[in-house]
Amino acid sequence: MQKISISRLKPGMKLAKDVIANDGRILLLKGFIIKPRYIQRLKAYKVSHVYVEDELVPVRQIDEELIYEDVFCNIKSVMEHARLEKPLDLQALRETVYELVRQILNDDTVFMALTGIRDIDNYTFLHSVDVCIYSVITAKALHMPLDEIRELAFAAILHDIGKCRIPLEILNKPGKLTDEEYFIIKNHTIYGMEITKNTPNLSARIPKVICQHHEKWDGTGYPVGLKSFDIDRMARIISIADVYDALTANRVYRKRRMPHEAAEYLMAQTGQHFDPYILQTFINNIAIYPENLIVMLNTGEIARVLSSRRGLLSMRPVVSVITRKDGPPILNPYVLDLQQNPTVFIVDIIS
Ligand SMILES: [Fe+2]
Repeated sequence: MQKISISRLKPGMKLAKDVIANDGRILLLKGFIIKPRYIQRLKAYKVSHVYVEDELVPVRQIDEELIYEDVFCNIKSVMEHARLEKPLDLQALRETVYELVRQILNDDTVFMALTGIRDIDNYTFLHSVDVCIYSVITAKALHMPLDEIRELAFAAILHDIGKCRIPLEILNKPGKLTDEEYFIIKNHTIYGMEITKNTPNLSARIPKVICQHHEKWDGTGYPVGLKSFDIDRMARIISIADVYDALTANRVYRKRRMPHEAAEYLMAQTGQHFDPYILQTFINNIAIYPENLIVMLNTGEIARVLSSRRGLLSMRPVVSVITRKDGPPILNPYVLDLQQNPTVFIVDIIS
């Protein structure tokens, strides 16, 4: 075992001790093999060093992770160009988004597990990729045709592009926004429409959908206050994915909600904020707690999600309890079905 600084940490190294953040949260468990995204996450949490075993395990990134990273890098580059008011070249982004769609239509379970790995610095870009993934999963369940799913994926990845015209001090402000700041932020819908309208080779539906992604089913949204079926179906899908993903992310101004709490929040808004039919489809088709996620239970125990249930059932998954908080690993992990144990619930996500 050796202690090394984060700058020397490499994919394939095996953790010899749990990694604990300054606030006491367990970030990664002993025995985990380091992957590139774990290194980013540890840097985001300002972890200075970790303990690793002497052996190095070869890691092969799975294709889905590479596609996720490609889409992330491309949307980051597009949004940075947009912030500098340079002309947008969307070709590379289009190719990777189409590849993402192809893979999700083939098998969406791996992608579901990739969502939610957001750090605060890259929030907007990672959020855009997650909204795109959730939107495509929903569209697939709605049996939308491939051309329309591709168009939706493109609108979803670009939905917040208008934020490049919002000053960063407002976008990243910790604490509550003033009325004036909120008014400025709301303009990102119109800016998004303006930016994409002037981009060659983009269907006219995309600027419209981007403009409508904060409209609400009951007509209380912005910028226009459109109601129900007057809002484009793609914008109704993106709005659900957007709110779900935003609620489950750590932001500068608040700690994230647990996915089952976010799902309940969304359901409470059915018919007001969201299209009831699309919301039901969304909830029925996402894995709220995907397989292999490591979670903390209210008993202080750490567990791995075993089942890949979908919809409401995945709110209370079957888990394998692997260790007590601050305690040694359990030699014989035991299986716990949270559906059969109503007093046990998930209080935090570890990785
Ligand atoms: Fe937005």
